[in-house]
Amino acid sequence: MIKKIWYTYDDIHRVLKELAGKIQSGGVKYDAMIAIGGGGFIPARILRCFLNIPIYAVTTAYYANDFGYQTNDEIKKIQWLDPIPESLIGKNILVVDEVDDSRVTLEFVLNELQKEKFAEIGVAVLHEKIKEKKGILPQGIHYYSGMTVKDWWINYPWDADDITAHNMLAAESSAER
Ligand code: G4P
Ligand code: MG
Repeated sequence: MIKKIWYTYDDIHRVLKELAGKIQSGGVKYDAMIAIGGGGFIPARILRCFLNIPIYAVTTAYYANDFGYQTNDEIKKIQWLDPIPESLIGKNILVVDEVDDSRVTLEFVLNELQKEKFAEIGVAVLHEKIKEKKGILPQGIHYYSGMTVKDWWINYPWDADDITAHNMLAAESSAER
């Protein structure tokens, strides 16, 4: 069975503050974020406290199709910036998501956005899972991660049915992570 880990909103807020520091000391000044929904929405909003730049959004859905040894995962656009707003043309944009897992979603979104007339493109993730990646980050993309984590299933507070129970599980498992 896959191991699970829980993070609280407070844990996440602290990591995002550190992530913002890494972005700010990285040399590129970003003009706007593009959050990848749904997981990137809350991280982008918290990052905005520190980066003070506007948030745009795209939403994708991931369909994992496992056929024995063959996989053909599919990403679909649910909502997109189509066309890209004039205000973003020629600007530095920071794509935000909660987790760098297989990188399949990130590769898809970054490849699509690289077709547009942006200056620099960066990608910032809250959690970077240490594992073999199926997707490839396109050339020329700046990469920032809040923290590296083991390849365990992460339970995010925004998915919690009972946030008190979630926080208790986070406290119980905090020594392991
Ligand atoms: P990546 O490119 O960012 O690595 O993402 P990948 O395609 O591998 O992820 C597919 C979906 O699985 C994404 O959801 C991602 O958020 C979710 N995911 C991957 N690992 C974890 C994890 O440990 N915990 C949780 N809770 N989710 C995980 P999505 O299709 O974009 O849906 P949404 O939840 O963002 O709306
Ligand atoms: Mg997601």
